[in-house]
Amino acid sequence: MEHLVILESVTKRFGEVWAVRDLSIRIKSGVTYGLLGPNGSGKSTTMKMILGMLRPDSGRILVNGLDVSENPVEARRIIGYVPESPSLYEYLTGIEYLDFVGEAYGVPPRERKERIEEFLRAFELKGREGEMINGYSRGMKQKLALIAALMHRPKILILDEPLSGLDPRSARIVKDLLNKLKEEGVAVILSTHILEIADALCDEMAIMYEGRKLAEGRPKELREMAGMPGSTLEEVFLKLTGTEDLKEIIEALVR
Ligand SMILES: Nc1ncnc2c1ncn2[C@@H]1O[C@H](COP(=O)(O)OP(=O)(O)OP(=O)(O)O)[C@@H](O)[C@H]1O
Ligand SMILES: [Mg+2]
Repeated sequence: MEHLVILESVTKRFGEVWAVRDLSIRIKSGVTYGLLGPNGSGKSTTMKMILGMLRPDSGRILVNGLDVSENPVEARRIIGYVPESPSLYEYLTGIEYLDFVGEAYGVPPRERKERIEEFLRAFELKGREGEMINGYSRGMKQKLALIAALMHRPKILILDEPLSGLDPRSARIVKDLLNKLKEEGVAVILSTHILEIADALCDEMAIMYEGRKLAEGRPKELREMAGMPGSTLEEVFLKLTGTEDLKEIIEALVR
């Protein structure tokens, strides 16, 4: 299977709002794909449709060759997901939570234990795993949610705003992890409204605006496409969206 994730002319409306419009995307194994766009541009909605949590109004989504609307359980089995604001079981300890998630995914006990240990160490949570989650900081919860999403060795990892709430050191750990997952052939889909994050992490990206894909390509290609090789991604973004209103907001975001 060449492409792990395929979206074909996917559209999703909420009443009058077109959250996603005629969106087509193809993502291969080992590729980190970024959905880049401002608030409300359809990034989270796109992710939820890939996960089978929302049903497209039209179009088709294939995960590992299977139509998600017909095979939601099979699709979910090979996907790891960290939502924008993960809701964790606050009254479990970190280790209880990870063990619970691993068990739910059918990871055998020994492997579960090994993976949990390995990740706790990698994410510098070792020593805190016996504490209740409600006492974790935002960044610690974020990291715990990411470990939980990786417990079953997904082929596809979907990360909604993965670096928000992380300090530079933790962001570095996540970046290194993404590189390692890439080598293992995992397809990563991440959303961000921060151009520099997309530039640093993604092999390919789609620039989303009002539910549409305005442009797609490697960060370098997008710069060239806009006829501005060497220019910053925010300049490309502004040119493609054709709106200067966003300029101030984007400048504030990337500062
Ligand atoms: N459950 C819902 N009911 C009604 N409207 C929704 C729902 N979910 C999303 N929308 C609308 O769809 C549009 C796209 O929302 P979405 O959450 O996908 O944007 P986003 O790109 O993830 O934004 P953000 O950067 O703020 O997370 C928005 O206009 C939003 O209000
Ligand atoms: Mg969102």
